[in-house]
Amino acid sequence: MKVLLVGNGGREHAIARALVRTSTPEHPVELVVQAGNPALEQLGRSLTMDPLDPKDVVRRATSENVDLVVVGPEAPLVAGVADAVLDYGIPVFGPTKDAARLEASKSFAKQVMADAGVATARSFTCTTMDEVEAAFDDLGAPYVVKDDALAAGKGVVVTTDRAHASRHARACLSRDGGAVVIEDFLDGPEVSLFCFADGATVVPLQPAQDFKRVGDGNEGPNTGGMGAYSPLPWLPEEATRRIVDEVAQPVITEMARRGTPFRGLLYCGLAMTSKGIRVVEFNVRFGDPETQAVLERLDSALAPILYAAATGTLAKVPAPVWSEDAAVTVVMASGGYPGPADTGHEITGIDAAEELEGVHVIHAGTSEEITDDPADVAAGCCGFEPTYALVNSGGRVLDVVGRAATLDEARALAYRAVDLIHFDGEHHRSDIATWPADLAVTLD
Ligand code: GLY
Repeated sequence: MKVLLVGNGGREHAIARALVRTSTPEHPVELVVQAGNPALEQLGRSLTMDPLDPKDVVRRATSENVDLVVVGPEAPLVAGVADAVLDYGIPVFGPTKDAARLEASKSFAKQVMADAGVATARSFTCTTMDEVEAAFDDLGAPYVVKDDALAAGKGVVVTTDRAHASRHARACLSRDGGAVVIEDFLDGPEVSLFCFADGATVVPLQPAQDFKRVGDGNEGPNTGGMGAYSPLPWLPEEATRRIVDEVAQPVITEMARRGTPFRGLLYCGLAMTSKGIRVVEFNVRFGDPETQAVLERLDSALAPILYAAATGTLAKVPAPVWSEDAAVTVVMASGGYPGPADTGHEITGIDAAEELEGVHVIHAGTSEEITDDPADVAAGCCGFEPTYALVNSGGRVLDVVGRAATLDEARALAYRAVDLIHFDGEHHRSDIATWPADLAVTLD
């Protein structure tokens, strides 16, 4: 199967790795990838493309004659890439623009949940500061303020500081057509459960947990995610089935009823509260960095599952088989992240880290820079071979994955690998894949 993968971040590197790793003689995968990520480019033929331009993606998909387009990030989906690819009769893993509203608009997601009878936090959608302040009065602290638009993981502020909450709401409202969702704070640990969906059938992956705040002990601002692990030993066995029955399936059924069937990956962000399972958010694509841990545990071939989700045939595909192994992902971030990132520093130690058995390193924000003197480059002619160095070029730079028989081993392995890698300004959390000793979850 020839697959065009759109997107070139850490999530896409992890998806590409899983497609290649699980490729079999019966289901060989040939990958075409988006240029711009030096490690991802090693896994397939790379093409420069504008992922936000549906026509450009269609041009690549048709000229490469691919069997399937897999869209990694949310922004191309919201821009209508899946719709354009479908118009050309090419199967696409990723929802249409209308179905992608489940992530693009928090208030839309709330309406769908209300219509589908799915439990979530009580909320108000506000377009003025008067409405925001009234919502704060009604719901009380901690204040949860969500930008009602895509914000690359930085649209949510949870704080007990009302002035901070108001500042975030004002910033969101100051945009043309800006709106915010103010909602009740959900207590309890968070779980990410990804589900494949083909418009009707739902097939869950394995639960994972993301570490969203930048600092140890969940201190500091929200990020796109600083690490993740799977499985979750503290989560009751029946949680996956309950989440599918109470959340994912009702939402997929409701989207079909509305005439906007959802095909792709429904990311259910959930809080395991004292009152039961509650939805925190939906995303319409694989989560980052949970994917790096979850797909590492997949033993089945990934490509046929993505193809089945894209073509409405998930019910005919055997359920995915999962390894008993644990996987832990630790994100190594640039100085300054989640604020403006300090980039351009040489990265060393990746080869040594990957020599550890059970370790691999996903690239999220790296690029290659020529290190030769510009004068030599300018003077060089036909035979000149430039020297490249790998540098950090984004906020989240590397996702270091450790896989082992137990979570303790996988965590130790991931951190041993992190210790071997260096770039100036680098920071990471040191408590990924840990949880409070007294953590106990019961599903009402
Ligand atoms: N890990 C959070 C996200 O992918 O949105």
